[in-house]
Amino acid sequence: MIYLAPLQGFTDYVYRASYAEVFNTVDAYFIPYISLKNNEIPNKYIREILPENNAQSRVIPQILAKDAAEFELLENVLTDHGYSEFNLNLGCPYPMVTNRGKGSGLLPFPDEIYKILDHFFSQSKGTLSVKLRAGLKSADELKDVVKVLNQFPLKEVILHARVADQLYSGEIDENAFSYAIENLKHKLVYNGDIFSKQDFLDKQNKFHGVDTWMLGRGILMNPLLPHEIKGIELSGKERADLLFSFQQTMLKRYLEIMDNEGNALNKMRQFWSYFAYCFPNPKKAFKHIKKLKALNKYNPTVKSIFNELNG
Ligand SMILES: Cc1cc2nc3c(=O)[nH]c(=O)nc-3n(C[C@H](O)[C@H](O)[C@H](O)COP(=O)(O)O)c2cc1C
Repeated sequence: MIYLAPLQGFTDYVYRASYAEVFNTVDAYFIPYISLKNNEIPNKYIREILPENNAQSRVIPQILAKDAAEFELLENVLTDHGYSEFNLNLGCPYPMVTNRGKGSGLLPFPDEIYKILDHFFSQSKGTLSVKLRAGLKSADELKDVVKVLNQFPLKEVILHARVADQLYSGEIDENAFSYAIENLKHKLVYNGDIFSKQDFLDKQNKFHGVDTWMLGRGILMNPLLPHEIKGIELSGKERADLLFSFQQTMLKRYLEIMDNEGNALNKMRQFWSYFAYCFPNPKKAFKHIKKLKALNKYNPTVKSIFNELNG
């Protein structure tokens, strides 16, 4: 199985719905985290969780909370919107978040994680999975966290085996992932640095028994990667047609929901910062999109970028 990772600012509901409409090759969609600001949920998070914006068959919202009280508040809002499966974020690496004791900021405090899970499993009817890093500062933190996670009936655990200090670069700690395979009693999902079919095969060879893979940037850079991993063969023309239709679907949906074309164009620029990697010269492709001043030049520019793919 392949899961689409939550990527704040990228895999928003427009992306998820367009992806499902055009490709439909991932088995679950994770909504980027929702969290409280001044004890309230910002509107931008509510839009992301509305049922009408999440029609795919399995969509899992993610909660970023510092303690059981915050978690419960967010869980209640999600329950009111019809969700019964939740994911706890123990991975966000940014100091703005970790300094407030959220995301991977909780990893050095397994007792706090215990309290959140204990509270959830004593009062909730829903199911819960956890997405975590190997540690905040050191992968040694993983050992005590695994002990806590093993005490609860989690649905699954998704591990991005980097420490938070690495952010998104540097080596994945494969020993930490192997440690989790050996010591976690839950289903374990692999996440991190799968950018090609070969990357996937390498990880599959190393980590026997893992059958679910969460992909983030690899899908943003090549939305057809799940096709490749699942062995769905496509001609060059079919690939180009699907990719073309994907960005058109995104644009159409952004235009429907944005109050002006400039905002829709900004969202498409952001989308292309990764999507440009579908083309032989990503820097050049992205440069063309970046310098667009108005939406009326978008389609001709995109057509010329796609021409390079075809010819
Ligand atoms: C821009 C960006 C935003 C992200 N937002 C989230 C998020 O909201 N929740 C989360 O659990 N992880 C988030 N992540 C981490 C990804 O879900 C994933 O764990 C990470 O990118 C490693 O997987 P990949 O190498 O397949 O991209 C984010 C990553 C990036 C680059």
